[in-house]
Amino acid sequence: MPQIWNPETYSREASFVPELGAGVLEWLAAQPGERILDLGCGDGQLTERLIATGAHVTGIDASPQMVAAARMRGIQALEGPAESLPFDDASFDAVFSNAVLHWVRGQDEMLSEVQRVLRPGGRFVAEMGGHGNIAAIRTGFAAVLAHLGRASLGDRGNYYPTPEAYAQRLQHHGFTVARMLHFPRPTLLGASGMAGWLNTFCRAALDAMPADLRETAVEQTVALLAPALCDNEGRWTADYVRLRFAATV
Ligand code: BEZ
Repeated sequence: MPQIWNPETYSREASFVPELGAGVLEWLAAQPGERILDLGCGDGQLTERLIATGAHVTGIDASPQMVAAARMRGIQALEGPAESLPFDDASFDAVFSNAVLHWVRGQDEMLSEVQRVLRPGGRFVAEMGGHGNIAAIRTGFAAVLAHLGRASLGDRGNYYPTPEAYAQRLQHHGFTVARMLHFPRPTLLGASGMAGWLNTFCRAALDAMPADLRETAVEQTVALLAPALCDNEGRWTADYVRLRFAATV
């Protein structure tokens, strides 16, 4: 069952995702008039910042709910998977992506498509989860699911590569890697803390469980993670690790 995104919950619980996109936007350095694809545009909060540079931006996202939310902002957004892009060859000067690539199941198909839709010399600038991303959260959630007899739901297959592995993958698809950065980015969560995070980002695993177990799964994961990720004032930090890169074709 794919993750179903709720734009309202997302904008409340995950506002840090676009807010923390400034670094990768800086690496992109979009220029007025450039044709840019925002791959996994979500509800379009970061896309709006790209548009503000004067670039011609098109968004694409696999979630119909997120595409609808992006269109409400007046963004030209299409629904579709990253592995099969509905654009002609060499349609874009740059492809941009923030906090999305780790969800993509077909990494090689996606990279071939990004390479295809970029003009020669075009750039692919993105930030995604890197090796070690949300290690404590993942381990805690998986342990609770196993304890509840739902081990098969624990790992939804998100992909958090090392810089070496992803650089190799990019090169295999004809990219030249100009810059790559792998860095921890501990992220302070909002008032709903880890329960809000789990209910937003682990929605697919929770929805696949019997309804009466969902709250238990969230409560037990929160209890398990509290000593590691919650401070004395009750503030939660998620153990994000990012992989940011700029590559050209
Ligand atoms: C991430 O951005 O790294 C991420 C967000 C939600 C779930 C898994 C990973």
